[in-house]
Amino acid sequence: MERKWWHDKVAYQIYPKSFLDTNGDGIGDLRGVISKLDYLKELGVDIIWLSPIYKSPFVDQGYDISDYYAIAEEFGTMEEFDELLHEAKKRNMYILMDLVVNHCSIEHEWFKKALEDPEGEYADFFYFREGKDGNPPDNLRSYFGGSVWEPVPNSNKYYLHLFSKEQPDLNWENPKLREEVYKMVNWWLDKGLAGFRIDAIMNIKKDLEFPMLEPDGDDGLAICFRTIESLNEKNPEGIDLFLKELKERTFKPHDALTVAEAFNIDKSALSKFIGEDGYFSTIFDFSAETMVNGEHGWYDTPDFTVDEWKNELFSAQEMAEGIGFMANIIENHDEPRGVSRYLPTYAQNDMGKKMIATVSLLFRGLPFIYQGQEIGMTNSEWNDITEFNDINTKDQYNVARDAGLSDDEAMDACRKFSRDNARTPMQWTFKENAGFTEGTPWLKLNPNYVDINVESQEKDPDSVLNYYKKLIALRKARKYSETFIYGNFKRELEDESKIVAYSRSLNDQKIIIVANFDGVQREISIDESLKEILISNSNRNIDFDMAKDTGFQFVMEPSEVFVFEVEI
Ligand code: NOJ
Repeated sequence: MERKWWHDKVAYQIYPKSFLDTNGDGIGDLRGVISKLDYLKELGVDIIWLSPIYKSPFVDQGYDISDYYAIAEEFGTMEEFDELLHEAKKRNMYILMDLVVNHCSIEHEWFKKALEDPEGEYADFFYFREGKDGNPPDNLRSYFGGSVWEPVPNSNKYYLHLFSKEQPDLNWENPKLREEVYKMVNWWLDKGLAGFRIDAIMNIKKDLEFPMLEPDGDDGLAICFRTIESLNEKNPEGIDLFLKELKERTFKPHDALTVAEAFNIDKSALSKFIGEDGYFSTIFDFSAETMVNGEHGWYDTPDFTVDEWKNELFSAQEMAEGIGFMANIIENHDEPRGVSRYLPTYAQNDMGKKMIATVSLLFRGLPFIYQGQEIGMTNSEWNDITEFNDINTKDQYNVARDAGLSDDEAMDACRKFSRDNARTPMQWTFKENAGFTEGTPWLKLNPNYVDINVESQEKDPDSVLNYYKKLIALRKARKYSETFIYGNFKRELEDESKIVAYSRSLNDQKIIIVANFDGVQREISIDESLKEILISNSNRNIDFDMAKDTGFQFVMEPSEVFVFEVEI
């Protein structure tokens, strides 16, 4: 496999609005990011992905961009952004921005011009279509609820929006639009950006027939990703053309790192995405996220078992083997906190948090840590629907209520799945507002900041934070890094339910990761001879029963994890 500059790196996602506010307006800012570069460096982070910081009305928290060339005032200035690039470079750190080009904002000048003249040049930057028999062109439901079509004022047309009506979809079929996108991407890369996380990119190719689909809800609509799925499986040429061109014209000449948000890519297509000459450097592994989906919404999401979760992640690891790298996560700004979602209730403690970190960070691929994950931030407490800010949460609450659920039942679904769980302000200290702001925070803090915060954890050698530091240092240690980066992945102890175990091997080195996700002690037997314990979350002296040549046995406590080097 050809070596790339980013293979040995560790990445960290910053959600700028909630990271650190330095001017007292209750909203995080670039100055806050700059001031924490040393904190991140010390953690072992090399690459920082910033969720959108462009000018935006923030209907969808910056994923609705009104000017691709400007920094949102809330976050600071272009000078401060340049300073961030400069300060990162000084520390050998790399900055990724979020590339949101499936849609823009209704406040973008292209859309304003399109509305002014629905027959004119800019209307063709979007999908302006006539309806059918007084109805919208098709019956698709947007990701955030309601039809994907919105009437264009003073015209007989509608415009398409797969997300909110404030996020009109850009028309990639139009070469002029594509040229504008490439110009903008190159402008940022020329500034010294290392690359992009690429938003919602599988949506850029539409079924231009805009067919009616079998409704999947009482609203008579069908969720829009059905066309995206079937289109890209049936007829991938269209998106292939767009993605190749995007890469050739922008990312490739800059040797940029690109991390795409792409769900459910089939193994047969994976090499096109992340292979040697793929469209992207890597894609996020969303297999755990998509493992169980409610048929109608968050409220009817089925439960899952540890073994199902393990199998999803392991299958993704196996799928990428020999093809490329996945970007591994346990959470991001669109998901609840990983430790609240994937750890069984009995393991939702510091041991469990360290255990899941170990499993995730030692996988083959590019590890991403989401802000606050390194201190074990959890889902928040929510009493009332008005406490949420997220557009998706409000929609899902209504979906649940419309299905006949009580306020409390609908709230339960939101408590479990709301994206705001990950968006509560970063917990820096145990003092007022967790040290996030001296003003009024834009979103309610998680009250557990008095117990879970950076300041306390920095002082505690056994904290989750200090464990993350050790774990990252292990991944990067000269003696093991080649194996952690390029080593093969293999399932281990396959018959052991609730034991998550795998190995990474390269040449004459083999490392085994064993995690006890069970709520009880488990007897474990490993066939190889133990060389060394590389890290564990329990720091106890274990009584290894070692029989030369026949492996070793030991008893694992609940939520315990070990990383062993073994003889091969
Ligand atoms: C995915 C982003 O991560 C999410 O936050 C956003 O709402 C949608 N794409 C639309 O841009």
